[in-house]
Amino acid sequence: MTAKNEGARAPAPAPAGALPADASPAERVQWLRAELDRHSYQYYVLDAPTIPDADYDALFSELQALETEHPDLLTDDSPTQRVGGAPLAAFDTVRHRVPMLSLNNGFEDEDVVNFDRRCAQGLGRTAVAAPADDLFSAAEADDNGVEYSCELKFDGLAMSLRYEDGRLVQAATRGDGETGEDVTANVRTIKAIPLKLRGKAPAVLEVRGEVFMYRADFDKLNARQAEAGEKTFVNPRNAAAGSLRQLDPRITARRPLSFFAYGLGELEGAERPPTHAVMLDGFAALGLPVCDERRVVKGAQGLLSFHRDIGARRDQLPYDIDGVVYKVNAIPEQEQLGFVSRAPRFALAHKFPAQEMTTTVEDIEVQVGRTGAITPVARLAPVFVGGVTVTNATLHNEDEIRRKDVHVGDTVIVRRAGDVIPEVVAVVLERRPADARAFVMPTACPVCGSHVEKLEGEAVARCTGGLICAAQRKQALIHFAQRRAMDIDGLGDKIVEQLVDMGVVRTPADLYKLGVAKLAALDRMADKSATNLVAAIDKSRSTTLNRFIFALGIRHVGEATAKDLAKHFGKLDNLLAADEAALLEVNDVGPVVAQSIAGFLAESHNVEVIEQLRAAGVHWPESEPTARAPLPLAGKTIVLTGTLPTLSREDAKEKLEAAGAKVAGSVSKKTDYVVAGAEAGSKLEKAQALGVPVLDEDGMLKLLADAGEGEPQ
Ligand code: IVH
Repeated sequence: MTAKNEGARAPAPAPAGALPADASPAERVQWLRAELDRHSYQYYVLDAPTIPDADYDALFSELQALETEHPDLLTDDSPTQRVGGAPLAAFDTVRHRVPMLSLNNGFEDEDVVNFDRRCAQGLGRTAVAAPADDLFSAAEADDNGVEYSCELKFDGLAMSLRYEDGRLVQAATRGDGETGEDVTANVRTIKAIPLKLRGKAPAVLEVRGEVFMYRADFDKLNARQAEAGEKTFVNPRNAAAGSLRQLDPRITARRPLSFFAYGLGELEGAERPPTHAVMLDGFAALGLPVCDERRVVKGAQGLLSFHRDIGARRDQLPYDIDGVVYKVNAIPEQEQLGFVSRAPRFALAHKFPAQEMTTTVEDIEVQVGRTGAITPVARLAPVFVGGVTVTNATLHNEDEIRRKDVHVGDTVIVRRAGDVIPEVVAVVLERRPADARAFVMPTACPVCGSHVEKLEGEAVARCTGGLICAAQRKQALIHFAQRRAMDIDGLGDKIVEQLVDMGVVRTPADLYKLGVAKLAALDRMADKSATNLVAAIDKSRSTTLNRFIFALGIRHVGEATAKDLAKHFGKLDNLLAADEAALLEVNDVGPVVAQSIAGFLAESHNVEVIEQLRAAGVHWPESEPTARAPLPLAGKTIVLTGTLPTLSREDAKEKLEAAGAKVAGSVSKKTDYVVAGAEAGSKLEKAQALGVPVLDEDGMLKLLADAGEGEPQ
């Protein structure tokens, strides 16, 4: 059996109780501090907020006001005193009274089995580990095995927090393990770190843990930095490190840092806890944040199963980790095992494959997609990252290359997390060679030579060659044949490449002319597979309208839109005859999609291919359109602004939408009407400037009534 204490939590504290109306300012200040501390504890330690942010802010402001009025009541551990003092000239150094050590690393299951064996032997027990080739078959965990406390290996910065009589007096980085830097002023700004411990705190308590940043906070911070035109951070770890290294704590205060406690340094005035797990629970009870992802297990099997469990959930965790950490649970056993050089014998960091690695950019090439999108791709010196060998990484588009400043020859950080396509996150500028070459977006398509255009407001450059472009043709055919489209089994990328390169197939309609002899002549294509492929192509003749529409590869028309179109129009000819306004009638089709479909159908070569496909016998059951006659205000865009005399904004919107109008949030040249009520502001001004007709509520109701007369229902 495996002992567990998953998510052990300290109990929720009782509210501070009501304060009599005639309380003195000193009592009120005390009460407010207790309340604010309690809410922070609920939020950061128990992850169970009790009041909305606004209420917290109100209590906070009240405390601030009282402290300004009564400066004698101000204390250092007041929640208002997280930022104080002037920027530092440099950080002082701090000598760690108990050194901050590092961990030995393991990567393979075998390393874990060996670690467990060494611990068991060191403790005078015999390890009952399963043989290495039988790691997973042992059904029962090892009841007699050494007990371990398992936790996460957070990807942040190690920190030592010194509390004296429950008050935070010093925070220091790890440094070289013997001496670190005094970052107290910065650490005081981290809201997850209590300035004052709860309950009965020991005389001296040094807590070790990790300062880190939640991924969501990191994304928000980077968005804010980019918006302000400031430099963005490569990853949460760098953002956390950069934020702690600020000499001005006011800057750190604006960075969303967090903290998890996982270790003990100096301790005076209290007994050492009997186990690591008890110590972690004790930290939480004192108001220190401890991660819930922790478990007590026995033996190597227990360790490996924790590693597997966390590994499977790594990408879903809200913060970055680079492994898990195993620590012998009983503190006397830890002491018995001791240390070897700079690392404890009683602990092991079991690492996951790194999700970020550095490598060099050997070239930047462009790929042409189905819709002509030209995507720059970095060709990389092979690198093992996120568990696979990566040789290419997308650079998305030209703007992205400029923003990240990627040159050919650069050393770059490549990231691959989960199933996401690998990407270049940043350049290591110090390592840029003198002959590094900037990327230039080609003006002609590298495949067909057609002009490359970049439309205003679009990040992506496109080849204008359409189906003349072999690259687009190949992608279009691969799309056409895929399982979710025409489902032509056996028509893979390699075959499409050859067919296009040999000039045998230009459009999807050409596929239906292929015979066994032609196909059997292709590389790696035996008679049997050629016969099967011809049969698969033949079978695809019988399809459904939605698959057919999806197979055409119209930009912005995915499977769901294809279904909506098929349902709405029922027959292909109805779709072919539809103009933009008629397309806007379709469920979930907006202006961008409508324009894309209309543009596709306006190209005669596209309609020709459709006709050829029908002529080749591609067919589907047709049905009656579900579309009603066009709604009277279909295709009209209307903006509502100000307060209308009788109708609420929602009611007005509902009425307009029921008549087929699109209600937009901002005024542009394309707006047909602005309906303005009282206190209409900039939208009304803009409408007037652009000459967009402005209606009042009556005018709008009249428009609806007039339109209604033409309405068939
Ligand atoms: S214990 C004596 N526990 O990993 C052992 N370290 O290589 C001291 N780290 O510098 C460290 N998560 O920054 C410990 N749950 C965890 C950890 C952890 C991350 C970092 C820490 C330390 C490095 C050790």
